[in-house]
Amino acid sequence: MFRYLPEQGSEIAPRLDWIHNWITDLSVFFTIAICGAMIYFAIRYRKQGGVDHETPRIEGSNFLEIVWTVVPTIICIWVAYYGIVIYNEMVDVKEDPEKEFVLINAQGYRWAWDFQYQNGKTTTNEIVVPVGRPTKIILTSRDVIHSFFIPVMRVKKDAVPGAYSHVVFTPVRTGEYPAFCTEYCGTNHSSMLANVRVVSEAEFQRWKNDRSDELSKLAMSPVDLGRSLYVDKGCNACHSLDGSAVVGPTFLNLFGSERKFTDGTTTVADENYIRESILYPASKISAGYQNLMPAFEGQISDNEIQGLIEFIRTIDGSQPVPEPVAAEEEDVDLSSLTPVERGERLYREKICFTCHSLDGSALVGPSFKDLYGRKGKFTDGQEYVADDDYIRGSILEPGSEIVEGYVNAMPPYQGQLSDEQIDDLIAFIQSVSNGD
Ligand code: CUA
Repeated sequence: MFRYLPEQGSEIAPRLDWIHNWITDLSVFFTIAICGAMIYFAIRYRKQGGVDHETPRIEGSNFLEIVWTVVPTIICIWVAYYGIVIYNEMVDVKEDPEKEFVLINAQGYRWAWDFQYQNGKTTTNEIVVPVGRPTKIILTSRDVIHSFFIPVMRVKKDAVPGAYSHVVFTPVRTGEYPAFCTEYCGTNHSSMLANVRVVSEAEFQRWKNDRSDELSKLAMSPVDLGRSLYVDKGCNACHSLDGSAVVGPTFLNLFGSERKFTDGTTTVADENYIRESILYPASKISAGYQNLMPAFEGQISDNEIQGLIEFIRTIDGSQPVPEPVAAEEEDVDLSSLTPVERGERLYREKICFTCHSLDGSALVGPSFKDLYGRKGKFTDGQEYVADDDYIRGSILEPGSEIVEGYVNAMPPYQGQLSDEQIDDLIAFIQSVSNGD
């Protein structure tokens, strides 16, 4: 009866659902039994033919009294006991040296979720977790009380400012699942959503160690950085680019305009004003708006503020605003390119260039210039020749052999590149080595 719970995505879910369904069924059974008997007797023994029937004297039954006291008592004790057993398993991670748990710090704020992994990887409104490993999410809030809820994992907990709480779950199947804020926290409460992506352990390791997002932001122009932050930091939820008033003032023609504030003062929107409004939004409230924005003090770097200022500066209606996404892929027929050309594209797309130069200079990793065919030593003293197998191995499992003088900083690309793509990269590296 009444099976309305969502998919079971965590280890605890089947047992939790079982007790939930059992209690529901039990309640429905007794509701129908008691109300049904009531209705039946009311009809069966109603006043008939205008005649009153004398009520017989009933002395009671000890047997019945005992049965309907003892049976419900046992049921209630059992429900409480089983509930406590399951609750205990849900409140914390069991110590298990085989299965180290994944720790994620989460911060709710109006109206988004920030997540940080232990290696420093940060995301907004997205978490990636490995299937089969316990995950512990430590929750707090920057402003008001929010509540973090992943229905398929059967976890829900308040995120309270100035305090920590946590949820624990072990995902059992891969897929993408929604997480909600379930504590009404203001205008955009309903859009305070996050995406939970459950992936294989290998994909999780690759994703967690792939910092190319952050690296590519370092290489972006300030305007592009600002444009990507506009989405990543959730500015777009409250500030439009087309002049429409959402929760906050639009960015259209904001820069250089005169701003009126609720206290009657005015100022011209310059770099200082925008910086202050990002870091301490409460200090000046635009007339006609409320103080709803979270302070980004300590949440955003000077570089990022610079990017946002440059981005806002460009929103003057003189040109259509490009889609707020990072570097867009142009459509190219890859089969029309030579392997070397395809390899060069991969060199740029996979951002190999942030660590491997083409001009012989040593960055984080060895330069690709004159790499192919080079002889050298690994940190363990073993000698190598940079041939096809060596390059393939270095791309797929860079941690297995580290070239002398370098540290293991590269994410493994196992499962991320096809054999053809690796061949293309090898061709490209070969061309750089043999060229001038
Ligand atoms: Cu946050 Cu509702």
